[in-house]
Amino acid sequence: MIRSLREVDFGRFLELARGESWSCDEAELAAFLAVLPDGCLVLEQRARPVGFVMAYRHERSAWIGNFIVDPAWRGSGLGTRLLEALLDRLDVLVPTVYLNAAPAATKLYRQHGFRPLGSVSRWQLRSSKDGAAPARGEEHLAGLLALDERCWSDRRDRLLRTLISGRYVLHDGHSGSYLAFGRVADHVAIGPFEMTEPSPAAARRVLERALGAATSIAGDTRILIDVPDACPAARAAVRSLGGIPISGTICMRRGAPVPIDFTRIGSFASMGSKG
Ligand SMILES: CC(C)(COP(=O)(O)OP(=O)(O)OC[C@H]1O[C@@H](n2cnc3c(N)ncnc32)[C@H](O)[C@@H]1OP(=O)(O)O)[C@@H](O)C(=O)NCCC(=O)NCCS
Repeated sequence: MIRSLREVDFGRFLELARGESWSCDEAELAAFLAVLPDGCLVLEQRARPVGFVMAYRHERSAWIGNFIVDPAWRGSGLGTRLLEALLDRLDVLVPTVYLNAAPAATKLYRQHGFRPLGSVSRWQLRSSKDGAAPARGEEHLAGLLALDERCWSDRRDRLLRTLISGRYVLHDGHSGSYLAFGRVADHVAIGPFEMTEPSPAAARRVLERALGAATSIAGDTRILIDVPDACPAARAAVRSLGGIPISGTICMRRGAPVPIDFTRIGSFASMGSKG
């Protein structure tokens, strides 16, 4: 049986997500549920949730994330059922659907009309050097919204407002860069990170500030960032700061093509695949 997600399901989902080492917490799930309750699905077997998939809606597109089936049930068609149920709902709402695919799942997505846009690397960074305590993000919201629309050709105000309200934002006036970061579970996640005038030096400048500021809010902890490989400025900067690539996904799109300027997108906004 496929039904809608409820808050009581969060614990079960997080248990499965931990098994995949995903960057995810309750706030992340609440954000999906608040935006598109009809797009958050649970598949039950013998009255127990064994599969989940969620969608987050922007103005002209939606993102699929948190797609998971209990390892004991994988390979028996449940994932396909969940994905198809969700796509049926999304296709009447938006012309374009995105996701960041685990390499092993790209075949399934291709079979459902998704095509690759480019690869994305997850980098792990660390900083032991304490930096300046960061400011909360609200004052930079207008600038970030304008740049984000230019990067994605879509309005993603709801996602950015929600993220910024719980994160810190750094702004670099020289390069017109905005970088947000915040604590998620046992680590700090960076995102969104976008640049008006991207360059390795500009990206490094703002990332270096972020590493110090992250230490001031969370101590010496893991810092994760999902960088599109098509953003050479951010790639060079994370590498020069000692970043280690720990995993990779493929960004895929189904439906109407949309121009996306990956050269300015230093990181995705959300590691739970809301874009
Ligand atoms: C991806 C996933 C949700 C698919 O669920 P499922 O119930 O196994 O899917 P199905 O049984 O309908 O199989 C559909 C396709 O999924 C892929 N798949 C099957 N088992 C898989 C596994 N253990 N790991 C990854 N992909 C798998 C295969 O391509 C399969 O197609 P095939 O049988 O024609 O080869 C599930 O395997 C899973 O939870 N994987 C770990 C988390 C993950 O990677 N999520 C996707 C993030 S983008």
